[in-house]
Amino acid sequence: MIKERKVLVTGSSDGIGRSITLSLLKSGAKVIGLARDHSKFNPEMKNYIKYKTDFSNEEILLNTIAKIIKEHKDLDCLVSNAGFGKFGTLETFSSKEINDFIFTNLTSHMILTNKILPHLKKIKKGNIIFIGSESALKGGKNGSLYSAAKFGLRGFSQSIREESCSKKYSCKFN
Ligand SMILES: NC(=O)c1ccc[n+]([C@@H]2O[C@H](COP(=O)([O-])OP(=O)(O)OC[C@H]3O[C@@H](n4cnc5c(N)ncnc54)[C@H](OP(=O)(O)O)[C@@H]3O)[C@@H](O)[C@H]2O)c1
Repeated sequence: MIKERKVLVTGSSDGIGRSITLSLLKSGAKVIGLARDHSKFNPEMKNYIKYKTDFSNEEILLNTIAKIIKEHKDLDCLVSNAGFGKFGTLETFSSKEINDFIFTNLTSHMILTNKILPHLKKIKKGNIIFIGSESALKGGKNGSLYSAAKFGLRGFSQSIREESCSKKYSCKFN
């Protein structure tokens, strides 16, 4: 029953994450929304709980995750969506831009999952959904950074599915 679920949606203030959040809220689920700027989407719904965080900053991200796990023992779903695109030929990017891009668009998803997965295993239920891209299937011109992150995310999600799907955890992954 969707009404009994509590879903953590990252990047809930805009775009795809915002649409997912709105749809879940209308279905009666409780949603914990994460973003830097909630003023862009601020529905007055009692089943919506917002946390301000920054997926480009490891310390802020870790503090937010620890707070959420402590305050929401009934959290049972993660929609790992926050991210952005950056396109251009590889040599136009500095090493800092490459590192920052991969941190927000791949590493932060891995860190978040690393902290949430033990909680889901403990409560013996849950779903994790990653928002991928066609760029995870084939690289293309100007897409080196974006494809690297999305290929990585796809490999990561396949691996944790293999690690987590067992009778012990009675997982059902699609
Ligand atoms: N749009 C597409 O055509 C498309 C296609 C395939 C996949 N995707 C993927 O779908 C996901 C969402 O994309 P979108 O098009 O919906 O983007 P969007 O409209 O720009 O929304 C991005 C969301 O992520 C949040 N976000 C971005 N950087 C953040 C950060 N450093 N810390 C915290 N939150 C951050 C934004 O919130 P704040 O700005 O408030 O922080 C916003 O809520 C991404 O992973 C993207 O790669 C998009």
